[in-house]
Amino acid sequence: MAQYDSCAADYVASKKEGFRVDVEYYTFLYRMLLPTLGKEHLTAKLNDVLAGKRVLDLACGDGHYTRKLKEQLGAKEIAGVDISQGMIDIARAKEAENPLGITYQVADAQDLPSPAEKYDIVTAFYLLNFARTSDELKRMVQAIDKQLADKQPFFATITNICGDASTYNTDRHRKYAFIREAALENGRLSDGAEVKYTQFNAADGTSFSYITYYLSKETYERVFKEVGFTHFQWVPMESCPTVEDRAFYDDFIQYPPAIGIIASK
Ligand SMILES: C[S@@+](CC[C@H](N)C(=O)[O-])C[C@H]1O[C@@H](n2cnc3c(N)ncnc32)[C@H](O)[C@@H]1O
Repeated sequence: MAQYDSCAADYVASKKEGFRVDVEYYTFLYRMLLPTLGKEHLTAKLNDVLAGKRVLDLACGDGHYTRKLKEQLGAKEIAGVDISQGMIDIARAKEAENPLGITYQVADAQDLPSPAEKYDIVTAFYLLNFARTSDELKRMVQAIDKQLADKQPFFATITNICGDASTYNTDRHRKYAFIREAALENGRLSDGAEVKYTQFNAADGTSFSYITYYLSKETYERVFKEVGFTHFQWVPMESCPTVEDRAFYDDFIQYPPAIGIIASK
């Protein structure tokens, strides 16, 4: 059973948290996607940003971003892949309710076969942080490489990279309805360290947890280079300047739990 099968519904409920839109999606759209496509000055008419593009969304979960990429950004064709049958069941139910023409598949992103036609864009929101070792990370990056057409961009967000060990095992992120706890070795984070996330649902007082893994920034950069990616860029999270209470996100930005990656060959 995949880790997310038991908490698929809880995870979907947690999607309502403001930072996912006000920080995460803002950063992806305005600091990653639009600048890479040379459309950074676009302020309106986002719904054809991905016109003509075939997109693959890895670790798509319930299709939260898969739907945005299709419905809000106008991807021509999009497929979502996730290792969890529970997550894909929810994604397919949402597709049945509101058909957008998205296909979903249960698969391990490490083992994806080469596609008949390569994709113009591959995304992976919170996939790579499930790699337990640099070898696993390399298998994921090689699988991503097989899916991507030449010189086309890969976009990811990952956890665990930002902040030193002292920013783990604190209550700093509790106001954003989660905490992260790392297994430290002599007070330090080392490659392969388990990082447990617990997300809280304020509405009903419940919580759920899942385990991810720390790999250093150097390990990520080395692995992408070994697979042949010539461009690799870290993209820090930013909050949307027009949100009502922007200061609420100050801790999120100062002690960021996540960071973006843009890579291409
Ligand atoms: C934190 S959720 C993110 C879901 C979605 N991308 C989002 O941002 O809402 C992480 C997802 O990664 C999936 N996952 C973990 N390891 C995977 C793997 N090896 N291959 C494909 N999916 C994986 C989990 O099942 C889970 O749905």
